[in-house]
Amino acid sequence: MPALLTALEEDIRKPQTPAEILQAAATREIALSRLLTLYISTGLFFMLLPGTFLGVWNLLAISGRQAANSVPPAWIQAHGHAQVFGWIGTFILGIGFYSIPKLRHADSFGLRVMGVAWGLWTSGVALRWLANVYLWQWRALLPLSAGLELAAFVIFFRTVSGHRPQDSGREKLDEWVFVVIAGTAGLLLALAINFGTAVHLALAGKSPAIAADFDQSFLVLQAWGFLVPFVWGFSAKWLPIFLGLRPVKGRVLWLAVALNSLGVLAAFLHGLKTAAFLLLAGMAAAVYSLNLFARTVRPPKVKGVHRAFPGFVRVAYVWALIAAGLGVWAAAAGNAAGIAGASRHALTAGFLALMVFAVGQRVLPAFAGAHLLFSARLMLASMLLLTAGCTLRVGAEILAYQGYLPSAWSWLPASAITEMAAVTVFAANLLLSFAVTPRLERV
Ligand code: HEM
Repeated sequence: MPALLTALEEDIRKPQTPAEILQAAATREIALSRLLTLYISTGLFFMLLPGTFLGVWNLLAISGRQAANSVPPAWIQAHGHAQVFGWIGTFILGIGFYSIPKLRHADSFGLRVMGVAWGLWTSGVALRWLANVYLWQWRALLPLSAGLELAAFVIFFRTVSGHRPQDSGREKLDEWVFVVIAGTAGLLLALAINFGTAVHLALAGKSPAIAADFDQSFLVLQAWGFLVPFVWGFSAKWLPIFLGLRPVKGRVLWLAVALNSLGVLAAFLHGLKTAAFLLLAGMAAAVYSLNLFARTVRPPKVKGVHRAFPGFVRVAYVWALIAAGLGVWAAAAGNAAGIAGASRHALTAGFLALMVFAVGQRVLPAFAGAHLLFSARLMLASMLLLTAGCTLRVGAEILAYQGYLPSAWSWLPASAITEMAAVTVFAANLLLSFAVTPRLERV
């Protein structure tokens, strides 16, 4: 990391002539792309090892003992934290920094800030995983980790909030920007609550695990209050272009954000049924606002990616509706850990991960230095494997955990291995894109 930053500093000197100005702009763009590649590679690392590998390990133990509570909660939370903040959170911060036009005019200091935020964020997420899994010095590491994550966010927020519409030559902000701002507020709230909880556990807890009841509400905030609005926002920005959709219905998208935020609030106030209905209504409104299932107005842009890409984006939104529907079922049924777990997995793997697989493989190679995607077939394989694994897992979790069909316990290892294969193929395809495919010509 310090070597990369020194190289950036040396690269970016005050330009004098027009040729030097052009050269400096190209150098800054490359430096920014390198930093984005660092963020994306770090996110892939968290996804693969601390995230999915531990998730698979947990699931094998659960299915072997045929009991959902046979794994320490601290391990399950270590997996969840690595996926939510380590994988998707790191992707979001990297793409967020990369998308700010201001950083394209920044001196080496502006880019250094992006590197410092990476260091703080990565150490914070890694320390949390170590504290939860090894319990070593967890009373000190837990608040330290949460503090580092919060500090990284503050740097991110200061950089992003300094960006004005005129920086991008536009007077008015598009709707998608407000949806992303809602997601940013959700992230801030999640990190602040995480910090408060970490301090409380360090002072009075018996283990680094968050209490089960509170964890359920906190998970609603992480998934629905932070990740879902971000994915809606990026969907509103990119999907009309990539899928040839009609323009987004802005007011309906606003309504979706309002219903979703009320749903998250209701979950914190223990109104689980109200929360579940509001989240379902919000998701249905978001799908309607994006015109995902209406007639398209242009052919989709699938050059360089697999032509099934638009289909999988729609599959991801079907998973989102299934997740919200299962949430309503779980809230109505009571004592329904299997249905609630299936709802969570339908949302995290079926919706969020599948969207990252589909849109990520479409945009990230180009952002990270104008690479081409290494293989459209691997892209298809990753999305197919994830969809198959998720279907098996969601079905088996309801049937086995709820006691409807005991033989479904034996399907869980197959679902875990299929999803492990999916994330490995996805990571390999992106890393090979960064490493192997030649850079396109740039200004
Ligand atoms: C890819 C394969 C995955 C496997 C095998 C897996 C496995 C598990 C298991 C066994 C649990 C414990 C609860 C239960 O029995 O359902 C769990 C919980 C969880 N997973 Fe996953 N998971 C995977 C993917 C993901 C993804 C992609 C995300 C997020 C983007 C995610 C986020 C979570 C969260 C937030 C929890 C709850 C943690 C808590 O209770 O605090 N998982 N997962």
